[in-house]
Amino acid sequence: MEEKEISQAVISRLPRYFRYLGELKDTGKERISSQELSGIMKVTASQIRQDLNNFSKFGQQGYGYNVEFLYTEIGKILGLHKKHHLVLIGAGNLGQAIANYMNFEKRGFIISGIFDIDQDLIGKKVRDIPVRSMEELESFVKEHNIDIGVLTIPKDAAVEAAKRLVSCGIHGIWNFAHVDLNVPEDVLVENVHLSDSLMKLSYNINRYGESKSGRSGKQ
Ligand code: NAI
Repeated sequence: MEEKEISQAVISRLPRYFRYLGELKDTGKERISSQELSGIMKVTASQIRQDLNNFSKFGQQGYGYNVEFLYTEIGKILGLHKKHHLVLIGAGNLGQAIANYMNFEKRGFIISGIFDIDQDLIGKKVRDIPVRSMEELESFVKEHNIDIGVLTIPKDAAVEAAKRLVSCGIHGIWNFAHVDLNVPEDVLVENVHLSDSLMKLSYNINRYGESKSGRSGKQ
């Protein structure tokens, strides 16, 4: 497939296409028009065509998109055709919730190891994965071909843990700690802050409330 620079905005929409197409594929749907997909995804048909046109010609005039093909190709673009091996650092509330979520594995994200400093947690299992001492981190990462580190620890601890992960050749960090990590250019960091999403919701609720009261003339 033709390779060109794709904007991060388009990339950030691909997982959603991938999810919907996966569901359509599971129902046996073979092809879909941008119009039909637009109705399901609540995105305009022109946005869909514009997004998918970034990847050579996925669709055909008068035919639409082949669901299975599009699903597979978007999966490849997202790197989901390869397995990723993860270590999760911090087996507290958030870490355990992530480790217990099975769907990541269906997408090829395998949590191979869980680490913590709490002696009461070390040796316990989260979904059959033992919690290990941080002393084992470097040797485990190297031996198990780990490419992603997940940080579910307090922010001060996250800075140090990220340094250790980088020193053993990790490629990506999925960072839940509320801190911006300084890492070399070849290490990719994806920050996830649930509260950012909640604040966005709050903004939209406020804005909607204001526009409604504006329309009705109420204060
Ligand atoms: P928690 O206190 O339940 O778990 C934290 C775990 O990290 C504990 O098991 C602790 O022993 C371990 N830990 C502390 N220092 C460590 C170190 N140096 N190395 C390895 N393990 C270490 O806290 P919770 O609720 O699971 O939250 C974890 C972190 O994630 C917090 O910093 C919190 O602010 C953040 N968080 C972020 C969210 C987001 O959306 N980004 C949402 C919820 C929490």
